[in-house]
Amino acid sequence: MIIAGNWKMNTLPNEAEELVRNILQGLQDKKFDSEIVVCPPFTNLHTVSALITGSKIKLGAQNCYYEPKGAFTGEISIPMLKYFDVEYIIIGHSERRTYFGETDEIINRKARAILEKNLKPIICIGETLSERQQGKTFEILFNQLEKCLCDLKVDDSKNLVIAYEPVWAIGTGVSATKEQIEEAHNKIKNHIQSMFGIAHDDIVLQYGGSVTSDNSEEILSIESVNGALIGGASLKSDVFLKIIEIAEKTIKN
Ligand code: 13P
Repeated sequence: MIIAGNWKMNTLPNEAEELVRNILQGLQDKKFDSEIVVCPPFTNLHTVSALITGSKIKLGAQNCYYEPKGAFTGEISIPMLKYFDVEYIIIGHSERRTYFGETDEIINRKARAILEKNLKPIICIGETLSERQQGKTFEILFNQLEKCLCDLKVDDSKNLVIAYEPVWAIGTGVSATKEQIEEAHNKIKNHIQSMFGIAHDDIVLQYGGSVTSDNSEEILSIESVNGALIGGASLKSDVFLKIIEIAEKTIKN
């Protein structure tokens, strides 16, 4: 179970520090088996990295560029992220696809570069509302999977995290229903299985989109859900801690 907080473009350094300190305090002396990941903006990686050193919280980034260095003004490389002990990198988030033109081909290049450096990409896929209404959901998801995972090896799949984030559920307060998540997750796992020949149990598939402390029990209890990628609710330490507590109860053997 991987519970990851995607802070998006939120928090100044002092706010990031307060949020992380509160999460650390809430987890102090607690045993937990879930993998807890926080993904602050780049400008707070340094602060957060220093605070979580020695704890069980892992660090994630929200994006990267696939070239290791050079004349790419404004970009952040994977070695730069590794320096701060980043272990996970979110790529292909729908906000990056929509506002910054990130294509499946770019996401695939990033995924390969991340895996090459022994880090873990969290690859986001998801359909828009109009695609769902037109009955194109699975055509879209399978196409994203095939392009984003192109040329990856079976071994890579061990370090891969996929996040199913229906675009219409992100930041809307309307999460997908249990039935919609079950259907999508089973089909996504079947498709990945057909691509790599790996078992469902070896595929890490998170759900993201309006996850809160109120709906997380129902969502995380679904057999094919291996974690959550949480936006808004991860910015409130008490809510994020509550979701972690719920995740612990729903861990499947
Ligand atoms: P919300 O949890 O705010 O809907 O955002 C989900 C998301 O985009 C996580 O990456």
